[in-house]
Amino acid sequence: MDTNKRGIELLRDPSLNKSTAYTEAEKQALGIVGLVPDQTESEDLQLSRVMMQLGHKHTDLDRYIYLTSLLDHNETLFYRTIMSDPARFLPIVYDPTIGEACLKFGHIYRQARGMYLSMTRRGRVKDVLRNWPQNDVRFICVTDGGRILGLGDLGANGAGIPIGKLQLYTACAGVPPQYLLPLYLDAGTNNEQYLHDPLYLGMRETRPSTEELYSFVDEFVEAVQEVFPKCCIHFEDWTGADAVHLLQRYRDKYCVYNDDVQGTAGIVLAGMINAGKLKGTMLSDEKYLFLGAGSAGIGLADLLCSAMVEEGLTLEQARSRIYMFDINGLLETTRADLADFQKPYSHPHTPTHDFVAAIESIRPTTIIGVSTVGGAFTQKVIEAMSRINERPVVLALSNPTDRAECTPEQAYTWSKGKAIYASGIQFPPAQLDGKTFLPGQANNFYIFPAIGMAVFATQASRVIDKMFIEAARAVADQVPSYLLNQGLLYPLQSNILETEIQTAARIAKLVFDSGLARVDRPADMVAFIRNHVYKPEYAAAIPPAKAA
Ligand code: NAI
Repeated sequence: MDTNKRGIELLRDPSLNKSTAYTEAEKQALGIVGLVPDQTESEDLQLSRVMMQLGHKHTDLDRYIYLTSLLDHNETLFYRTIMSDPARFLPIVYDPTIGEACLKFGHIYRQARGMYLSMTRRGRVKDVLRNWPQNDVRFICVTDGGRILGLGDLGANGAGIPIGKLQLYTACAGVPPQYLLPLYLDAGTNNEQYLHDPLYLGMRETRPSTEELYSFVDEFVEAVQEVFPKCCIHFEDWTGADAVHLLQRYRDKYCVYNDDVQGTAGIVLAGMINAGKLKGTMLSDEKYLFLGAGSAGIGLADLLCSAMVEEGLTLEQARSRIYMFDINGLLETTRADLADFQKPYSHPHTPTHDFVAAIESIRPTTIIGVSTVGGAFTQKVIEAMSRINERPVVLALSNPTDRAECTPEQAYTWSKGKAIYASGIQFPPAQLDGKTFLPGQANNFYIFPAIGMAVFATQASRVIDKMFIEAARAVADQVPSYLLNQGLLYPLQSNILETEIQTAARIAKLVFDSGLARVDRPADMVAFIRNHVYKPEYAAAIPPAKAA
């Protein structure tokens, strides 16, 4: 611990501040006698005060704002709070509350967190990055606010996303927070409402051409290599085309990944592996129809293909099992508007804009909603799937809450209890005919924090697709059969840290096996990961000899 700080300077550093937990000896030695109450409280007592204060808040947005200000003055207590009950707090610091927080970001803003890098800094990106107080940054989560959750272009209001996402690295997988840098790359916004909002915090310009944007991102990515050589760049919530193209641009050259593309794919793959256990099928036995062919859809389709190829199919055979439907209808070979990355999934078929008709003709076993369109899986859709399949798999992944393609209640009711269902956000258990169904949350937070921890511990030089397949298998393996039999495709959130440690250990093994690690191979992979896990506990602020 940096013990050079004393007095009020120490109390104002959230990464060091213990607020009411300093011992008398620490107060004397650090010049804070009289600056804090004389009482010395335990962390548990501090936590109980936080819980009491949270109890007085009426909405999750108020709780989000409260927790953010707690983080502004006491990082350890913040993480102790959210790690004390992940199932309760993850929906507050991340989905779905983060969606509302982003919509109001400029209005609820209190204090800078992370970095803001606007295109006006072109040519000086390295200098800007050097202003960050930590030298050893291991992860930058970066968005340009282009497509925030299912909410569209939120520009600078999207800055809440990398902040929340990196908090989950720590809360879910124990990556120490000092290595994490959330960054908003400001390329303007096409959101008219924000452009005219006096409290909007971003550049008041419409978005540049793709060429200009990518050349700025090039400068950023190259600057990171020089300023933070051990850093992995996590791209988050860019528009679908940018997400896919930027990943293609850097993935073989630098340590980068895109969670919307690869993390989503990993978590859905985990769900599909478990759906297969319930149905007695392999991934390559299924036929998939996607609603939505953007970054999440394409990332998933590509990873599913890789996994089906591992099961023995050729790439062509794997692709032939995946159909996609987007805002302009079914992807088929006569469509002239398809992006390069969508073409592998366009198959010969009569053009159609009718999703139910597409189901009846293609006869998928699984439908996957990544469309951002709430309610798109109508009763007719679910009934069509149930006519064709004994156990239709229905994944309604769009978020936040009102964007889910259907609710669990709808899926179970309309399918008469036959559907195997998961969603992108957490829904409560559903009841049907006296039976309880446990809808799983296909949330990337089972995957990307574990990837982050494995990359952090191994200092991996690249993030490869196989790491997401292994993560998916590890997550799927950790659902006990008694929960799986009630329809739960994902592990319980209450035990998420342990789940992610086990997942990270399996990913780390793959990193070593693939020759990508930059540290020595340990004998015991789980113990190795555990040794890297951050604990939300105060360190002694003075050496034991002085404390005695
Ligand atoms: P995107 O903007 O790249 O793609 C959206 C796709 O939906 C496009 O292909 C678009 O044509 C299609 N679409 C839009 N309206 C439609 C309509 N009326 N009918 C049919 N298709 C329509 O967005 P991205 O990144 O693919 O994300 C999609 C959704 O998935 C978002 O709501 C996002 O929050 C969610 N998501 C969920 C995750 C999870 O639960 N684990 C992870 C990542 C994303």
